[in-house]
Amino acid sequence: MSKKLFIETLGCAMNSRDSEHIIAQLREKEGYETTDDLKSADLILINTCSVREKPVAKLFSELGVFNKKKKEGAKIGVCGCTASHLGDEIIKRAPYVSFVLGARNVSKITDVLHKDKAVEVDINYDESEFAFNDFRTSPYKAYINISIGCDKSCTYCIVPKTRGDEISIPSELILREAQKAVNTGAKELFLLGQNVNNYGRRFSGEHERVNFTELLRRLSKIDALERIRFTSPHPFHMDNEFIEEFAKNPKICKSMHIPLQSGSNKVLKDMKRGYTKEWFLNRVEKLKNICPDVSLSTDIIVAFPGECDEDFQDTLDVVRRVKFDQIFSFKYSPRPETEAEHFTNVVDEDVASFRLTTLQNLHTEILDEKNLTHLDKIYNVYFEDLNQGYFVSGRSDNNLVIKVKGSDELLGQFRDVKITQIGRTILTGEIVG
Ligand code: SAH
Ligand code: SF4
Ligand code: F3S
Repeated sequence: MSKKLFIETLGCAMNSRDSEHIIAQLREKEGYETTDDLKSADLILINTCSVREKPVAKLFSELGVFNKKKKEGAKIGVCGCTASHLGDEIIKRAPYVSFVLGARNVSKITDVLHKDKAVEVDINYDESEFAFNDFRTSPYKAYINISIGCDKSCTYCIVPKTRGDEISIPSELILREAQKAVNTGAKELFLLGQNVNNYGRRFSGEHERVNFTELLRRLSKIDALERIRFTSPHPFHMDNEFIEEFAKNPKICKSMHIPLQSGSNKVLKDMKRGYTKEWFLNRVEKLKNICPDVSLSTDIIVAFPGECDEDFQDTLDVVRRVKFDQIFSFKYSPRPETEAEHFTNVVDEDVASFRLTTLQNLHTEILDEKNLTHLDKIYNVYFEDLNQGYFVSGRSDNNLVIKVKGSDELLGQFRDVKITQIGRTILTGEIVG
């Protein structure tokens, strides 16, 4: 009988891909199969995120619950970004934890498993050429890392301290992995990195210097591959060549995540983001001009230290002008080992909450207006999920979530769908082709 692995994944898509790598290694080398039942697991893993304070605070209470519920002899391991930044402190505070595995040490999962109280959290460890075994959560699409780490130093962000310097994965390895994924049924690729359009600046060995635009061109030549998505591009690196390739390459999905963070030049400078409000708006204008159907999503932090009402109004101004299709908005959360942790001009909690609500309300209004424009339109949908047994859902090229009545026969298929009903997060339609 196979051993059972229970794995909880928090945080971003990079963590999701790391979890897939962990599952792949444990399946191939140790004979584990995944389970959703905590009590029957022989190994319990939490793949953690430390980008904001709340999930970190929750980690120890969750570990306590896992320890109480786990079966006799089961091991608990902590992986991911919080593992990187807390290291052996995790075992000091929760002595029943068997090992701690940092975000950039995923390939060592099969070693730490057999060493009691192992702590592997080196953020200089280079996994950029490690050949992981194959495992995909979805048969229809494949996540592929194109770089590890991050070279920026945004003053609020802990990620460079948990994932280390940026190293690009050689293009030939990415192409090989992509081809393999397509050969085994994936029609969509999701390329991952903290700054994907900074790809190709540094490799760990001697490799052909391919930039992101060229990587996209090469990947799109894979026959039977239909769609390419990626996250996150950085506004600073959105040069014309990249935007033009994005617009004209039919395999690149016409949805772009373009993380604003703030619309105020003063705050952007204090965040060390490297661009201005004007540059951001200029890039959006260029994108919309040559790709009118593009859908745009963004990340916004409100109440960064020193953000006054005028700064916040600048953020709202950008939101009104761009009319993002999706906004991930957060209250600023001070993080250890970041520059902003020492900034003293902290914004009151009440003001922060008010700004977050104001931003979210504005966005709801924008969405309600935008959503009406989808009615009766026809979108090509790639079906990926079966809901309640009789609805099948998927995404349009421009990232709208659309469901239709249907069965699992539609999964993995592309169909034209006419929108008949509007919802804030999901549209309903009927198949017309
Ligand atoms: N590399 C990506 C971001 C990864 S972190 C990029 O540059 O866009 C994901 C998001 O978390 C960030 O875009 C930011 O909006 C948010 N975030 C990061 N640090 C934060 C902090 N200290 N407080 C609140 N939100 C934060
Ligand atoms: Fe964090 Fe900035 Fe790097 Fe994104 S680019 S991961 S926000 S330091
Ligand atoms: Fe991702 Fe969270 Fe780490 S957002 S990079 S898992 S801190």
